[in-house]
Amino acid sequence: MANEKVDILLLGSGGREHALLVKLAESPRAGRLYVAPGNGGMNGLAEAVSLDENSPTEVAAWARDHGIGLVVIGPEAPLVAGVADAVRSAGIPCFGPNGNAAQMEGSKKFAKQVMSRAGVPTAAYRSFTDEEPCLEYVERVGAPIVIKADGLAAGKGVIVAKTTEQALEGVRECFSGAFGEAGATVVVEEMLDGPECSLLALTDGKTVVPLATAQDHKRALDGDLGPNTGGMGVYSPVPEHLVSADELAAMVDIEERVVAELAREGITYSGCLYGGFMLTADGPKVLEFNARFGDPETQVVLPRMRADLVEVFLACDAGTLSADMVSWGDDWAVDVVLTSAGYPGSYEKGKVITGIERAEQLPDVTVYHAGTAINERGELVTAGGRVLGVTAVAPTFEEARRRAYEACDLIEFEGKTLRTDIGMRALRG
Ligand code: AMP
Ligand code: GLY
Repeated sequence: MANEKVDILLLGSGGREHALLVKLAESPRAGRLYVAPGNGGMNGLAEAVSLDENSPTEVAAWARDHGIGLVVIGPEAPLVAGVADAVRSAGIPCFGPNGNAAQMEGSKKFAKQVMSRAGVPTAAYRSFTDEEPCLEYVERVGAPIVIKADGLAAGKGVIVAKTTEQALEGVRECFSGAFGEAGATVVVEEMLDGPECSLLALTDGKTVVPLATAQDHKRALDGDLGPNTGGMGVYSPVPEHLVSADELAAMVDIEERVVAELAREGITYSGCLYGGFMLTADGPKVLEFNARFGDPETQVVLPRMRADLVEVFLACDAGTLSADMVSWGDDWAVDVVLTSAGYPGSYEKGKVITGIERAEQLPDVTVYHAGTAINERGELVTAGGRVLGVTAVAPTFEEARRRAYEACDLIEFEGKTLRTDIGMRALRG
């Protein structure tokens, strides 16, 4: 019934899920909130539940037994595993696509085929299930070239090769089983050039409501150097000198065409469709689709979004989404990720974190937890590579950026590492 409170189960444990939880908790429709598995920062807002978030039967049974009125799925693994299918089959509304639609992220080959049928611009590609023909093809075409493990590889299965030798090495790595089953099929694609831009959109399978643009910083080190990570910081919106109104319209059109093409094929895509784009000289081209909110994009997009997230998520599930459910102000958000020294390689855990309360006393600063936990002494400690995401929202980009870094200075833990140049591209006119 409209306006009735709903109890919500949120799956996931990252900064994205903390941002989702904060926004869900703001809704007048939010009843009791549960999170599985959650992290060290979500305790005050939700009750942590011990269940296997990747098990469709376990999640659906727990939700049914506890009278849950909405299951929100944060990460890709439960989506691809079919958790949303099981929840919906149990008659419970769910935010996140069913397993067949989540193949847009779960299989790069599937996504490429849908894009091709939808007439959506993306890098030219070939896919291979055998090593020898793949090596021959890469040798023939030569660098620069991009090698991708087909399936989910936690952001690590992409090799942007500047030399043919690197590319051949990447092909061998995929087929050697370095990415498990994800690498059994290898996609080889043309290298695209230009600034990157993410556009998240909400959809009920018919209506597509684009959210604000955001620009992630994937490389570990300042100046976009070092290895790829899950994301070191992000800002929103991406200014006009980087994304023109025409480019934005083209990205929205691409997402609409993909959702419509899936619908034509009998697949309802309900949830968040995340388009990763390269803004090439020939217009935006798709790098990848994700079947979920971005991390850390969510940590800048949701704080700027004016919407009742519970209503919106229920509408995505029910097929009643409309554009007027979401609006935007003209403020800016910057999020700087604090990581453990060594990330994305190996790092130590269990370092005591201090200063979050002081940081959050700064106006419009929110500290989203990712890799944190509470130790046996009740202290907040590091428990992952990406530890915290520090978001500031302000009327100007400069102010948001300054305040985010001011907040980062107040937070301490041994090995605290951050990029100092998040958002610098937004300043270059
Ligand atoms: P993906 O997981 O497919 O988004 O790839 C991760 C990152 O690799 C992207 O954010 C890009 O920086 C880079 N990348 C992926 N595909 C390409 C491509 N075809 N050309 C250039 N860079 C790419
Ligand atoms: N920010 C990159 C991702 O969520 O995949």
